[in-house]
Amino acid sequence: MAGYGMLIIKKLVDSRVKTAMEIVPASLENIRLGAEILKRGGLVAFPTETVYGLGAVSFFPEAVARIFEVKGRPRFDPLIVHIASQEMAFSLWQRVDSRVEILMKKFWPGPLTLVLPKKEVVPDIVTAGLPTVAVRMPAHPVALSLIRMVDLPIAAPSANRFGRVSPTSAEAVKKDLGNRVDLILDGGKCELGIESTVLLMEEGRFFLLRPGALSVEELEAVVGKVEMVSSSRRILSPGMTRKHYAPSLPLYLFEGEVREFPLSEFGNFAVLAPFPICEQGENVFVLSQKGDLKEAASHLFALLRELEKSSFQGIIALPVEEKGLGRAIMDRLKRAASGLVKVEQGKVVFIDK
Ligand code: TXA
Ligand code: MG
Repeated sequence: MAGYGMLIIKKLVDSRVKTAMEIVPASLENIRLGAEILKRGGLVAFPTETVYGLGAVSFFPEAVARIFEVKGRPRFDPLIVHIASQEMAFSLWQRVDSRVEILMKKFWPGPLTLVLPKKEVVPDIVTAGLPTVAVRMPAHPVALSLIRMVDLPIAAPSANRFGRVSPTSAEAVKKDLGNRVDLILDGGKCELGIESTVLLMEEGRFFLLRPGALSVEELEAVVGKVEMVSSSRRILSPGMTRKHYAPSLPLYLFEGEVREFPLSEFGNFAVLAPFPICEQGENVFVLSQKGDLKEAASHLFALLRELEKSSFQGIIALPVEEKGLGRAIMDRLKRAASGLVKVEQGKVVFIDK
């Protein structure tokens, strides 16, 4: 019977790999199908607690090459490898500092990506030729069981076309990648909705390569000082190009006191406010009514995608304090922005980047 079962899977896999990709609920059976597709060198989009990932087995360079093609992503931008056990991480990294082990114990599974010197087994295409590899253990039952079934580390960037905001639902993946991937496992909306925090350890020091769903404050409480990477060193995380998360409507970041925001001047614009503002308006979109940063972060990408479909002339984003998750939110808004808008001597001024 086992043989017969395998035959069915093989047939399903054959037909799925050949035909257009589709969204399927992330049932155990479909996760198994996803695992088979991955083992045969296919691409599977799957949910994580941060955003949806587009996965391939990290040891199959051709499959990984297809990720770059499907995303339209430049080859110099390395991928994160997703694992389901600490042993899997140890099989990819050369050596692990005891403070990194503390971080793994404390924050995995979860939205923390750790970058350390790689072993030779990790193909260059995964790391874009860098001597380091980024690794994370996602905290999503579907992602974990998919990796466990394949029993190999899975390289996966966010499942969007290059330069678009990361997808936080299966529909958003489908909209961006069309039928270029073999299967999309639908695990509903992503809980955190913003990508993982990327942390590099080099010569005993920690560097923040990308602010994300785990705050710097939480990291520092465990390992002490985390150094911010100046823009010149951003090359360490090549994916951090200045305009990386771009919605298709122009977005301007408001510079000034949120209390003094002149809503009436922006009738044709959608106003994206992390927290409620004093004035009401049909064009005001609040990320968290109760003023909660976590909730605000989780709604950001979904709202940007929603607004892209609207007929507004553009988006005006109001700032939030760069503390805790506010840092990740502001990072994404700055990257999405075409420029700044401010009020000077009673006049609205737009300043393009
Ligand atoms: O939450 C997340 O991290 C999601 C989910 C799917 O896990 N993934 C994600 O992957 O956001 P991606 O490829 O969109 O972003 C990966 C980031 C990029 O900024 C890339 O440059 C950086 O991680 N990165 C990867 N490997 C690196 C390395 N060896 N050194 C420095 N930066 C690296
Ligand atoms: Mg991405």
